[in-house]
Amino acid sequence: MDGFIWIFLLKCLLVISISQCKVVNTTEYSPAVYDTLVELTKFCSVATCIKYSGDNKAELQKKLPPDLQEGYEIYKVFELNGIKSGSGYIALDHNGGRILIVFRGSSSTVDYFYDLNAIPVPYKPLATPKDSSIDECSSCITHQGFYTSFIQLYEKVIPVVKDLKKMKKFINYKVVVTGHSLGGALSTLAGIELQLLGYEPLVVAIAAPKIGSPIMAQWIDQIFQTESHIDSIAFANGDLSEGGYYRIDHEGDYVPLLPPTAIYAHGGARFYIGPIELPHLKENTFFTGSYQYTSVSEQLLKDIRKGENPQKRHQHTRYFMPTSRCK
Ligand SMILES: *[C@@H]1O[C@H](CO)[C@@H](O)[C@H](O)[C@H]1NC(C)=O
Repeated sequence: MDGFIWIFLLKCLLVISISQCKVVNTTEYSPAVYDTLVELTKFCSVATCIKYSGDNKAELQKKLPPDLQEGYEIYKVFELNGIKSGSGYIALDHNGGRILIVFRGSSSTVDYFYDLNAIPVPYKPLATPKDSSIDECSSCITHQGFYTSFIQLYEKVIPVVKDLKKMKKFINYKVVVTGHSLGGALSTLAGIELQLLGYEPLVVAIAAPKIGSPIMAQWIDQIFQTESHIDSIAFANGDLSEGGYYRIDHEGDYVPLLPPTAIYAHGGARFYIGPIELPHLKENTFFTGSYQYTSVSEQLLKDIRKGENPQKRHQHTRYFMPTSRCK
């Protein structure tokens, strides 16, 4: 048995000894949860409209869907050496009192994640934790490609959020981080920093690849208190306003299986969409709590490596709506 499965089982045994290892698989969560997932996916689709360098706030504002116009303000567009290596925007929701940080997925192809540098490197958060008792996960391993991009993005994003949160007007605004695909990986790394800074963000990573080692996944679940969020959503009709780290994936999308090695694993509480074709209704969107993929089969790997396959591209970009097209 490989190390990855072992760690998962060990974690499960540990949980059994404390409470019980709950298997969660339900569509009976609060409708507000589903609405938030769909809404955040809309913000991710808007991120694909970031077309050129420079501050194109006004352009992007026009791309917000009609139901997200009134009371929503694109505050800042950020990018890193061109939109392909990492970009996104910060928006303010004055109705709901939220600061939204949305990372753009740079590519809709599965191949992209093979080109990217998947070399495991030591991880260290960039922010100094507000709570000095938080261990900085000295044995965490992350993915060099995502981490390198994030380190460069950090200065363009995190200080802006800090400054906003210092302003009286926004002091009570909740912090929300989201992104699709590569954007999902970056949203996880940004979410960790914001959690360490004490903002208790809601992080929703959509169709995201794995970003760190199993030990890092466990550490992420510790700092976000994933177990208690799972209980709240699955058993206490909780919604997403309390923050936490969530992922969405679906049948047939290979990107969440990547990198296809036990060196990497996912943390977070997971929503799973059954059908590939739209519409993706609440009854198709299962909350499964903590979830690890079993190892990726050789056949599946071959399939993934076959390269550009329109079918796979299609699956990666269907999450409640087409997610890779700027409308
Ligand atoms: C959750 O339940 C659905 C419907 O019964 C099923 O299709 C799916 O495979 C289950 N998922 C898990 C992870 O058990």
